[in-house]
Amino acid sequence: MLTLSNIKIGVIGLGYVGLPLAVEFGKKFDVVGFDINQTRIGELQSGVDHTLEVSSDELKDSPRLSFSADLQQLASCNFYIVTVPTPIDDYKQPDLTPLIKASQTIAKVLKKGDVVVYESTVYPGATEEDCIPVLEQHSGLVYNQDFFAGYSPERINPGDKEHRVTNI
Ligand SMILES: NC(=O)c1ccc[n+]([C@@H]2O[C@H](COP(=O)([O-])OP(=O)(O)OC[C@H]3O[C@@H](n4cnc5c(N)ncnc54)[C@H](O)[C@@H]3O)[C@@H](O)[C@H]2O)c1
Repeated sequence: MLTLSNIKIGVIGLGYVGLPLAVEFGKKFDVVGFDINQTRIGELQSGVDHTLEVSSDELKDSPRLSFSADLQQLASCNFYIVTVPTPIDDYKQPDLTPLIKASQTIAKVLKKGDVVVYESTVYPGATEEDCIPVLEQHSGLVYNQDFFAGYSPERINPGDKEHRVTNI
């Protein structure tokens, strides 16, 4: 059973939202920060965040956080947090492609008892209607029986050094 003593968190998408979150959790829990952008992974592994949301010292202060673009590293996690972009298209419609792709990725390593929390900005219903069916289809597992899911809206304000993820 998933508990706070055996939790291992995978944060999928290390941008303005995902990286500060991964850094905070990495102070207390084992965390794999996963991104498809190998250049981003390389810079974070060398202690640099070009978005300037997290300083090199703050990265060092997160000893249980590692970075990877390797799916196998995600496989050891049991709690997944999705923080990939949700852009809009030319017709101002939300483009869920990154969310669907991230869900397919997680589904490949999803196990019984795991939890998936979506934190990307989406319209009401998108988690259950668009994302969870992808998790089910690609994992063969059943929602609310084999695995569980949640939604947590993100309130981060990029560039704001006063109102940060820990005190918003
Ligand atoms: N930045 C903000 O101020 C803010 C505030 C609140 C909510 N949000 C929401 O949070 C979400 C993330 O925003 P952001 O600003 O952090 O985005 P971002 O563009 O800064 O970073 C997203 C990261 O996800 C990675 N990524 C894309 N597809 C991926 C995939 N399939 N698997 C793994 N990684 C993938 C990208 O390489 C990138 O590093 C969006 O839905 C956004 O609307 C952002």
